[in-house]
Parts: sequence; structure tokens; C-alpha cells
Amino acid sequence: MSALPNDLTSALDGVLTRFPRPVLGRSVERLIGHYREGTPPARPILGSDVDVAAYACYRMPATYAAVRSVFDQVSTVAPGFAPRTHVDVGGGTGADVWAAADAWPSLADVTVLEQSAPAIALGRRLAESAASTAVRRSTWTHGVIDTSVDSPAADLITLSYVLGELAERDRADVVRWLSRRTGMLVIIEPGTPAGYERIAAARDLLRDLGLRLVAPCPHEGACPIPRGRDWCHFSARLPRSSAHRHLKDGALSFEDEKFSYIVASPHDWRRAAGRVLRHPRKPRGQVALRLCSDDGTLADVTVSRRQGARYRAARDVRWGGEWPPADDDLIDLD
Ligand SMILES: C[S@@+](CC[C@H](N)C(=O)[O-])C[C@H]1O[C@@H](n2cnc3c(N)ncnc32)[C@H](O)[C@@H]1O
Repeated sequence: MSALPNDLTSALDGVLTRFPRPVLGRSVERLIGHYREGTPPARPILGSDVDVAAYACYRMPATYAAVRSVFDQVSTVAPGFAPRTHVDVGGGTGADVWAAADAWPSLADVTVLEQSAPAIALGRRLAESAASTAVRRSTWTHGVIDTSVDSPAADLITLSYVLGELAERDRADVVRWLSRRTGMLVIIEPGTPAGYERIAAARDLLRDLGLRLVAPCPHEGACPIPRGRDWCHFSARLPRSSAHRHLKDGALSFEDEKFSYIVASPHDWRRAAGRVLRHPRKPRGQVALRLCSDDGTLADVTVSRRQGARYRAARDVRWGGEWPPADDDLIDLD
């Protein structure tokens, strides 16, 4: 379960009290409609204070959970990665900035580029109450992505839930632009077939540009997922606050945010030997894993109780995690 940090939760609770619930609720409905359409919007979706507040309360906890879970996977394969600088492009109300500060306390210099003035105003306001100095001191730049100027330069660059809002003809240029001066580029999209297609295109482009794929892929060959029948995506579970439940009209105390992603770097990091592509199934005495393997193929692997330490390790592995584990040599194979 990936919960928001307490300081962000309190700051968001403060936002909720500024608008009547029915007004926020209507705005949430509008936003859900826009995001369901899934086509690049003619105008910025986050156009007013109330839309931005609704976004922060109903979407930011979910995007935070997805981003934070991607950062966990990056830290697993690149434990030595300790970014000092971060640029978040299309940062909205700052989910990535909060998640990055939580994952990497080394961050000291953080910049958000965002086209929506109300999103910047709220993002800044939330950031002021952060325990993290990097978040509190973050710089918020108002502007539209412009690939004709110098590429942003930072140890970490993030682009989460933004590609789908760009015109299709601009996406490759934006990915190329972001790839030029970064130590780690993280791109995240909704875990839908369309979101995966955008990630798959970015993946191929980044690899062709000579960057190394860090995660989730265990190899740099063609993606083996059968197009049109399946798509590579993962899931992050997050708790829903009562305000969140009220706004989204849901009864469950949690939700699962589905996302697709690609992380690439100019540096060589360890890659997972295999990536778990589904919730593991656990028939009695067994763990069944659907894997993307380092030989570029999909594989179904069953680990049985007879395999001792390996079985105990498999019981803990999650959808999106790596298998076999990095310290596989240490696991007793019988
Ligand atoms: C769905 S929100 C995602 C916000 C944040 N990255 C997150 O994951 O919560 C997409 C954001 O990208 C911004 N955006 C879209 N196109 C942009 C562009 N061309 N230049 C700058 N920002 C852009 C939008 O204003 C919006 O804040």
C-alpha cells in the first residue's frame, strides 16, 4: 500500500476545506470525463482553481502511488543512484516531486515545469508545508514544453501522465528532448492499452538513441507482449481517505492505480533478470509467475514448496517486482 506522506495528506486536507464538496465533486466528474476520452485536450485540462483542487484530491494520491512504486523499482536495480537535481515536466500539483524526495533524500535542487498557472499555485502551496527541504525549496516554472530550447539538465527527469496530453506528432520530439541531459529519465502513463503504446514507442526511441533501459524491461530486445491482446502494465494500491471516497463516490477503502512506464539512463545499471507481469497466483504449495525474461521472451514459472528458500522468496514477490531475485545465488535451489 503506497500512502501519501503525512505532510502531504494534511496539506491536501487543507485544500478540501477551501471548496464546497459538491463543487469539487462536479469538477472530479469533469476531470474523469476528460481523462476517459484519452485524446490530447484542445485546452489545458487543469484550467481553474477548483479543477486543480479536484485533481489534487482525487488524482494526485493515485499518481503519487504509481510514481513512488516506479521509483522503488529504480532504487532496486540502481541502489547507487542518488540524484541531487530533479526536473519534473508537466508536474501538475507536484506528485513526482514529493515521491522523488521520499525515495531519494539526496535531492537538493528541484524544478517543476508546468503550463497551468492554477496547478503551479496549488503545487507551490502544498510544497510549502513539506518536511523535505528539497520540496519546500522547489522552483515552479510556468511554461509550455518547448523542444526548440535547450533540453532540461538534471540527474532525474520525470514525465508522468503527460505524454497522452501531447499531440501525437510531438511525443517523439519531447522524449528525444528529455533524453539528452539526464542521468535517469522516468516516463509514466496510465496502464491502459493506449498508455502502453505510448510507453512502447518511447522505449524503442530511447533504446535507439543509445540509452540503456533500466526498468521495467529485463532486456533491450523487442517487447514480447503480444500487441492487441495484452499490454505491459503494473498496479499500485493506495488507501482512500474518507474525503477521497466521498469525492469519487466509492465505497472501497483502497484503489488500485494501473500504470505503464519506462526508465532509461545513459549509464549502465543492473537490470532485473525477469519482471513479474501479473499478480502471482498461489495455488496450494506453489507460486505461479508470469514473467518477462532477460532473453526477451515471456515465461510462466512455477515455484513449489519443495524449493525451500526459493519458494519462501517467491511468496513475497509482487506484480511488478523482479524474479528471480538479485541475490539468487544465496537461495537454496532445492
Ligand atoms: C494528468 S496531469 C499529470 C500531473 C503530474 N505529472 C502527475 O503525475 O500527477 C498532466 C499535466 O501535464 C501538464 N501539461 C500537459 N501538456 C503540457 C505542456 N505542453 N507543457 C507543460 N505542461 C503540460 C498539464 O497541465 C497537467 O498539469
